[in-house]
Amino acid sequence: QELTVAWDARHAVVAAADLEKRLAGDAVDITLPGRRPVLGAAHPVSRMIDELSEIFALLGFETAFGPEIETSYYNFDQLNIPSDHPARDVWDTIHIDLPGEIVLRTHTSPMQARIMEKSGPPVRVVVPGRVYRYEAQDASHEWMFHQLEGLAVDRNITMADLKGTLAELARQLFGSERRIRVRCDFFPFVEPGVDFAVDCAICGGKGCRVCKGSGWLEMGGAGMVHPNVLRAVGYDPDQVSGFAFGLGIERLVMMRSGVDDLRAFAANDLRFLRQFASAV
Ligand code: DAH
Repeated sequence: QELTVAWDARHAVVAAADLEKRLAGDAVDITLPGRRPVLGAAHPVSRMIDELSEIFALLGFETAFGPEIETSYYNFDQLNIPSDHPARDVWDTIHIDLPGEIVLRTHTSPMQARIMEKSGPPVRVVVPGRVYRYEAQDASHEWMFHQLEGLAVDRNITMADLKGTLAELARQLFGSERRIRVRCDFFPFVEPGVDFAVDCAICGGKGCRVCKGSGWLEMGGAGMVHPNVLRAVGYDPDQVSGFAFGLGIERLVMMRSGVDDLRAFAANDLRFLRQFASAV
């Protein structure tokens, strides 16, 4: 009994001292400023895709997505590019299988036929997504980048509709003063085909470092959908016509924010990405 009493007494002293010590050590200084939680943010390319979807939604376009692993049937044949056609060389293709029937899509254009086969006319759709090219990398070339495809097919669609749509896009993205330039170009899936540019918002078209003195910034390719492309999906080119366009999404971000190296977008350097987290 004597031992038990002594033990209990001593135990109480030791436990109290221990508690004292822990309270002193663990004290929370409630005057310390808190640590800001690190919040994630959408990638600048994702933000641009969202913005483009919204702009085109207001113009009556749906947004659709398609497969990145594509058949050469949709990537080429259905776009009026038969297998022996030299235009295939324009798209340096990454092949998945040996016969060359499966490829990583080289552009978002294959979705044109996929969408038209399923529905319409009328069709009004934009398709953002990744595309792949067998390409040496430099500041303006990447083996993976993003495009936005646009397609409108209906009765009586004309080149004026195409130009109006592209001009509205340029103004929504770069300011209400912007003008666009449309010049002849060749793509097998459109006739006539064009490339289009926006006048440089930095210098107002006078010529500066950003537009390399030309006053214009290239945005992409476009044209009136080729009758062969319409026929291939069972549309009657005597009844309906359409326009299509394709543009590089990273390029738009570069043009607007002055980024001068395409490779920065896929490099995943947080110091780069964080700069887009709140602004743009
Ligand atoms: N697919 C083309 C490319 O990647 C871009 C393009 C040009 C798309 C003209 C179109 C178009 O829809 O009409 O080089």
